Amino acid sequence: MVCLGNICRSPLAEGILRTKANKLNLNWQVDSAGTADYHVGKPPHILSQKVALENGIHIGAHKCRQFNKNDMLLFDKIYVMDTNNYLEVKEIAGKLWNENKVKLILSELYLNENKNVPDPWYGDEKDYYAVYELLDKACDAVITSLNK
Ligand code: 4NP
Repeated sequence: MVCLGNICRSPLAEGILRTKANKLNLNWQVDSAGTADYHVGKPPHILSQKVALENGIHIGAHKCRQFNKNDMLLFDKIYVMDTNNYLEVKEIAGKLWNENKVKLILSELYLNENKNVPDPWYGDEKDYYAVYELLDKACDAVITSLNK
């Protein structure tokens, strides 16, 4: 799961998908990263932690990290939150770029619409709840898509 800061959206997506995968006994390794290095080593945003915890998901132990080109090899699927993240991942991956692995997460819900998960960084609490709702539905669609 990749966003810009690895502070708001992608740690939430990571926690939601891991929780759903574990409930289904899927042996998946789920991780998240940001395309930027602004917050490396920091925990997720307090409001991302709050909305996750209200849904029984603890994400406070995550430490922000930056996406690196080796992730392109390590992971079978890389979900990005928005089209900027997609372009940044492509840039960082360089020669290791594999188009088949990288997808906008909302494409699993809304095929061919290029929809972005809105960045709540400059928003307020309601924006974090809206992101949670979107990611919860998107992660159900990810499970349906990958667990075939
Ligand atoms: P995220 O949100 O990409 O969902 O983690 C952001 C976090 C931090 C910044 C921007 C977006 N920032 O500019 O520091």
